[in-house]
Amino acid sequence: MRLDKFLSQQLGISRSLVARELRAGNITVDDEIVKSGSFQVTTDKQVAYDGNVLTQVTGPRYFMLHKPQGYICSTDDPTHPTILFFIEEPLSQKLHSAGRLDIDTTGLVLLTDDGQWSHRISSPKHHCEKTYRVQLSEDITDDVTAKFEQGVMLNSEKYPTKAAKLEIISAREVLLTISEGRYHQVKRMFAAVGNHVCGLHRERVGEIWLDEELAPGEYRPLTEAEINSITVPR
Ligand code: URA
Repeated sequence: MRLDKFLSQQLGISRSLVARELRAGNITVDDEIVKSGSFQVTTDKQVAYDGNVLTQVTGPRYFMLHKPQGYICSTDDPTHPTILFFIEEPLSQKLHSAGRLDIDTTGLVLLTDDGQWSHRISSPKHHCEKTYRVQLSEDITDDVTAKFEQGVMLNSEKYPTKAAKLEIISAREVLLTISEGRYHQVKRMFAAVGNHVCGLHRERVGEIWLDEELAPGEYRPLTEAEINSITVPR
């Protein structure tokens, strides 16, 4: 990759600002000042800006974040803080979330720069299961498990939801596993049976469980096994 493109991505600045930094002699490659933007950067080279080494990203990246309330999963929103606030990685702006949680939903968010991998999670074709811990404002009634198993009609939709599994923890706390990702799906499913979601926390996506060691706002890279659990067709 050209040095000016690399610097523009790494520093998040325009090519004209990059050109200025190059002209000023602020960029070194392997400790030598380089002023040409067309210089080819390869992975064995160490590029530094003002003496600070810029880490090169060499392959796709995969992370899990414990999302707290109050952050949105979109990566650029001028009005709300986004989940990228928590991610201290080079080129973090290249990461996207594989499926989204609402601003008030907490729990497992997967982040990657591998579009094919995230497509397997979010595409309706792949039926990737997600498990949510749900707090309800009304006691759960006995008929809801069967209704969710059969599928319920959501407001202004043409087709019922796919079979979903409900596990009752207590009168107002349940685990719900769904294999679709419709807009506000969990909240709308409970609204369809006359209840109201007052707390929502995602615990699982496919075979990946939220790491209990992660406090809200913390993240970690996925393990090889976690990454591969999504790429293997089920
Ligand atoms: N369903 C919802 O209603 N909200 C979420 O954030 C995720 C699933």
